[in-house]
Amino acid sequence: MPSTEVNKPQVLSENTVLLTGASGYVGGRLLPLLEAQPLALKCLARNPAKLRPLAKNSTEILPGDVLNPASLDAALEGVHTAYYLVHLMSGSANFEQQDRQAAQNFADAARRTGVQRIIYLGGLGDDNDPKLSPHLRSRHEVGEILQASGVETIEFRAGMVIGAGSLSFQLMKSLTDRLPVMICPRWLATPTQPIAIDDVLAYLCAAKDLPRGEGRIFEIGSPDIVTYGDLIREYARQRSLNRWLIFVPILTPYLSGLWLALVTPATYEVGRHLIEGLKNPTVVQDTQALKVFSISPMSVQQAIARAISS
Ligand SMILES: NC(=O)c1ccc[n+]([C@@H]2O[C@H](COP(=O)([O-])OP(=O)(O)OC[C@H]3O[C@@H](n4cnc5c(N)ncnc54)[C@H](OP(=O)(O)O)[C@@H]3O)[C@@H](O)[C@H]2O)c1
Repeated sequence: MPSTEVNKPQVLSENTVLLTGASGYVGGRLLPLLEAQPLALKCLARNPAKLRPLAKNSTEILPGDVLNPASLDAALEGVHTAYYLVHLMSGSANFEQQDRQAAQNFADAARRTGVQRIIYLGGLGDDNDPKLSPHLRSRHEVGEILQASGVETIEFRAGMVIGAGSLSFQLMKSLTDRLPVMICPRWLATPTQPIAIDDVLAYLCAAKDLPRGEGRIFEIGSPDIVTYGDLIREYARQRSLNRWLIFVPILTPYLSGLWLALVTPATYEVGRHLIEGLKNPTVVQDTQALKVFSISPMSVQQAIARAISS
């Protein structure tokens, strides 16, 4: 049966939700949580056949590509809340332009079709930092484009998401698993506030049920401010690995990207974009999320333990 012909549950239209990025890391983990709720759930996917086995029969899967505006209206028709969990950081040189175009296409289609709320997960990082990396700047710009659509947009900003399967966590894990002695660039001393995947998912779910209001940005993170070096040491401690970190000031993002590509599954380009972001502090400055949501994020230690055991 074609994916668009599955029986849709008859529920109130305000319970109609669209999930994008359901084949990705965050979206893939949000999918079963949304499916467990009394919602009419739709997913937009570039390759519906790949997603079909991962979704319930009651979930409608519509073909669509955020870079193709004509494919978006059918997916967004009748939708109350749309999750934007798309990430185009495919390693292409013009990823910023593509991210911008994709967000604009989605924003325009959401406004056209009467979507009431967009929920987006972007990245932490200080907007006033003139040295903000292209990757983080692009994540913020996507949020601005969605906010400017006029559709109420709830943007979460997170640092590294700790969980099995998260690209940035996998990079850290692969480095630590493989290298007993690490020549570490300066960015390993950058302060960051990672967050466990389960806490990210709790925020994303809760955002759907927030009372109507203005567009908002929520910065989210664990209670711990750490460095990437601390994360490596804590992961190594929990895995009983003896690791030596030797700090040098000379590894440029170019060389670091090459180094990552050699010892981890990431491609050079993806590694380089991620590393450029690691030199920027990613720390929660606005703690509104802790007041608005009844979610108490777990510690980094707990998050790593959970990622290792899952
Ligand atoms: N993972 C982290 O550590 C982390 C940390 C902070 C923030 N975030 C944010 O969380 C969001 C999701 O990240 P993620 O880690 O889940 O990314 P991901 O695993 O790379 O997944 C990206 C998703 O985007 C979809 N996609 C890519 N290009 C598309 C297109 N042209 N049209 C439609 N869909 C497209 C992919 O679908 P295909 O299967 O078709 O490729 C995939 O489902 C991003 O905004 C990211 O900035 C992630």
